[in-house]
Amino acid sequence: MTASYHDIDGKSVLVTGGASGIGASIVRAFCVQGARVGFFDIDDDAAAKLCAEIERDLDVRPHYMSLDLRDQARIPKAVTEMASKIGVIDVLVNNAARDDRHSPEETGPDEWRDKLDVNLSHQFFCSRAVAKGMAEKGRGSIINFSSVSYLMGLPDLVGYETAKAGVVGMTRALARDWGADGIRVNTVIPGCIITQRQLDLWISPEDEERIQSEQCIKRRLVGDDVAQMVLFLASDVSSACSSQSFIVDGGLV
Ligand SMILES: NC(=O)c1ccc[n+]([C@@H]2O[C@H](COP(=O)([O-])OP(=O)(O)OC[C@H]3O[C@@H](n4cnc5c(N)ncnc54)[C@H](O)[C@@H]3O)[C@@H](O)[C@H]2O)c1
Repeated sequence: MTASYHDIDGKSVLVTGGASGIGASIVRAFCVQGARVGFFDIDDDAAAKLCAEIERDLDVRPHYMSLDLRDQARIPKAVTEMASKIGVIDVLVNNAARDDRHSPEETGPDEWRDKLDVNLSHQFFCSRAVAKGMAEKGRGSIINFSSVSYLMGLPDLVGYETAKAGVVGMTRALARDWGADGIRVNTVIPGCIITQRQLDLWISPEDEERIQSEQCIKRRLVGDDVAQMVLFLASDVSSACSSQSFIVDGGLV
C-alpha cells in the first residue's frame, strides 16, 4: 500500500546506495511518485538491472552514476553532474552503507577509517554538496540513515554502530545549522529489514523467526516499509519535522 504525495511529483531526488536493498525500494518508490530520480552506487550490474526493471514497469528511467562514496573528494562534482541531469536536488536520501561484521580486535586504523567512510562520512559530504542549492530554493529535505543495531548494541559491528550513532548527532547539528534556510534534516532508523543481502549473509530462517517474535508487528519487514517513511519525510506533509529520528522496526526496540 502506498500514498500519493502530489508535491513529490517532479521533485529532484538523489539516493545514495540505490542499486540494491532498501535503496532500490526507495528509488522505485520515488519513481512511482513521479520524481526525477538519480542514484549513486558502486554495483553497476545491480544498478543496470534496477533501471531496466523500473523502465519496464513504470516507463521512466532513473539516472545512475557509478561512484564510490568513500572517495569524498569526488562527491561535490558528482552531485553537480547529477543535478545537471535531474535538476537541483530537492531531496537527498543518504542510504548507502556496508554492514560487514568485524571484531574490535581485527579493526586497526585503516579498517576503522573505512567503516566511518562507508557508513557516516559520505552522508555529511553529500549533504554539504546539496545544501547550497537547497538554500537557494529555500527548501529541501535530507534523510539520513542510521540503524537500530547501535541502539541494541549488536555484536561484531563496532565501527558500523559507532558510525550509525554519529549519523543521529550529525542530523541534529545540520538540522540546526540549515533550518533557517528551509532545509529539514531527519534520520530514519531501520530495524531488521529483510533484503537479499541480509538473507544471503546474516539472517537464517531461525533468526528471522526469532526477530519476528521480538517485534510487536509479527511480519517480515521489507525495503518498501522503509521507503514509505522516506516518502513521508521527503514530502511537505512532514514540513514541521526536522532534527528527529524515525524508527521503522515493527516495534523491535
Ligand atoms: N537491512 C537492514 O536490516 C538494515 C537495518 C538497519 C539499518 N539499515 C540501513 O539501511 C540502509 C540500507 O541498508 P540495506 O540493507 O539496503 O544495505 P545493502 O548493503 O543491501 O545496500 C547498500 C547499497 O549501498 C551500496 N554501497 C555500499 N558501499 C558503497 C560505496 N562505497 N559507494 C557507493 N555505494 C555503496 C551497495 O552497493 C548497495 O547497493 C543502510 O544505511 C543500512 O545501514 C539496514
